[in-house]
Amino acid sequence: MRTLLATLLCAAALPAVAADGAALFAQHCAACHQPGGVGLPGLAPPLAGTLGERLKIAGRGYLPRVVMHGMTGPITVQGARYTGAMPPFGTQLPDEALAAVLNHVLEGFNAGTLPEGHQAYTPAELAEARETRLAPHAVRKLRDGPPRAGSGS
Ligand code: HEC
Repeated sequence: MRTLLATLLCAAALPAVAADGAALFAQHCAACHQPGGVGLPGLAPPLAGTLGERLKIAGRGYLPRVVMHGMTGPITVQGARYTGAMPPFGTQLPDEALAAVLNHVLEGFNAGTLPEGHQAYTPAELAEARETRLAPHAVRKLRDGPPRAGSGS
């Protein structure tokens, strides 16, 4: 009886444990983006020191869609060209975990460069990104931000 009660209490406590962004990054992202998010030319772009500027250009909706749906299409980061594929994590990880890993990448690797008044991502923003399925090449288009009036294309 006592064991059963303990088991029930443990199970009930589980969802309350906040997702650990650092552990998620180590497990799911570091193989490509490297510890500390420093990147590896030819494999995956740096996430350290680059995403504050990206938030300003692409807007807040971009990063949730990258981790949720993945991305393909060439990009240039700090002078190096990347043509690989960022895998979609929406099928593997819940909204809370994706928010936690994004917040870890931003606060851990991009502190001091985030847009003024930046607020941590919430699971609800990931849920919103999950709602509309996007192809990885469509996510790539979001990276450059909204098309500018008069850009001629
Ligand atoms: C299999 C290797 C791989 C893994 C694992 C991976 N990524 Fe990526 N990631 C990439 C590649 C390659 C790109 C660039 C895609 C392109 O060129 O379109 C990328 C792009 C990104 C970008 C966009 C960067 C920018 O400058 O716009 C973010 C953000 C990102 N990844 C975050 C993550 C996070 C967070 C994880 C773990 C949940 C992760 N990645 C796991 C390979 C990977």
